[in-house]
Amino acid sequence: MLVLGIETSCDETGIALYDSEKGLIGHTLHSQIKLHAEYGGVVPELASRDHIRHIIPLIDKLLKDQSLTVHSIDSVAYTAGPGLSGALLVGSCVAEAIACSLNIPSVPIHHLEGHLLAPMLEEESPSFPFLALLVSGGHSQLIHVTAIGDYKIIGDTLDDAAGEAFDKTAQLLGLGYPGGAALSALAEKGEAFFNLPRPLLNSHGYDFSFSGLKTAVLTLIKKQEFLTETIKENIAFEFQEAITDVLVKKSLLALENLNLDQLVVSGGVGANKQLRQKLIQQSKDKNFKVFFPALEFCTDNGAMIALAGALRHHLSAKNDYKFTVNPRWRLSELKPTA
Ligand code: KG4
Ligand code: ZN
Repeated sequence: MLVLGIETSCDETGIALYDSEKGLIGHTLHSQIKLHAEYGGVVPELASRDHIRHIIPLIDKLLKDQSLTVHSIDSVAYTAGPGLSGALLVGSCVAEAIACSLNIPSVPIHHLEGHLLAPMLEEESPSFPFLALLVSGGHSQLIHVTAIGDYKIIGDTLDDAAGEAFDKTAQLLGLGYPGGAALSALAEKGEAFFNLPRPLLNSHGYDFSFSGLKTAVLTLIKKQEFLTETIKENIAFEFQEAITDVLVKKSLLALENLNLDQLVVSGGVGANKQLRQKLIQQSKDKNFKVFFPALEFCTDNGAMIALAGALRHHLSAKNDYKFTVNPRWRLSELKPTA
């Protein structure tokens, strides 16, 4: 079965083709980062307009590159939430229109389910059950995954998500938006010099809180007479150490307590090198196995949506061609397949 996947929940138009037997056939992406950069964040109306401009040409190009036509597609999966409503509506409208015109099923996908299944695009992929650390611009969650659709959120962010903390700190350091990758690059030049808090590091539960960390960075910056490049590098270094220390400790604690041995890391912050290295290193001693998506599939993309569509086809495929979206869809609302 060949699934066309469409992702338009925020500022990336992602399109992919996934074959349930052969795996990922191809994918393409248009990023709106440059469009929103001058506003310091995503402008929803501009995002919707840009998705409209790019979505059809991207689908056309992907099909042509694979020497396929729309008639080869058996099913269309699209992100139906959570996300920006206007942006989601562009993807759902195009997906339902294609499905309706070809008389094939459509499959609405939860964006976060796409993220947490993304490591299954890799050759070496996890098996159920596993623990997922989902760290993106809007989420920092630890999820106990027992089957497709069976997701128990055991830890969540109490305030700023991990990606949000990276972005806000990057902004304080004058790195622009989104700043996660830029902050990480700056941190590589820095060294241990400052001390920042590790919020909730030793608490019993698995919840995260990163807004205090960002405030501590602001206080530290205000204390500096001159914000030299070296000081910025050292602040970035310590910020990255602090946030990754907390994410790693909570993940390993949850694995141990839930008696699991596989950790799946996904979402944009999953691209962070330091997080990856620490998780791999510290998991070795405990015989835990860590799975990451390829870097290009950590951030938003169509491949994870096409994959989720293929895995979910028998559960949520529909033929009513209504394009309702759910901008505030909660992952815990999904139902297991069995
Ligand atoms: O999953 P994603 O593409 O979009 C959401 O669904 O939110 O995640 C985007 C987030 C942004 O906050 C971005 O700064 C962060 O992921 N990010 C990173 C890195 N690459 C992207 N954060 C830390 N280190 C990185 N290398
Ligand atoms: Zn995302």
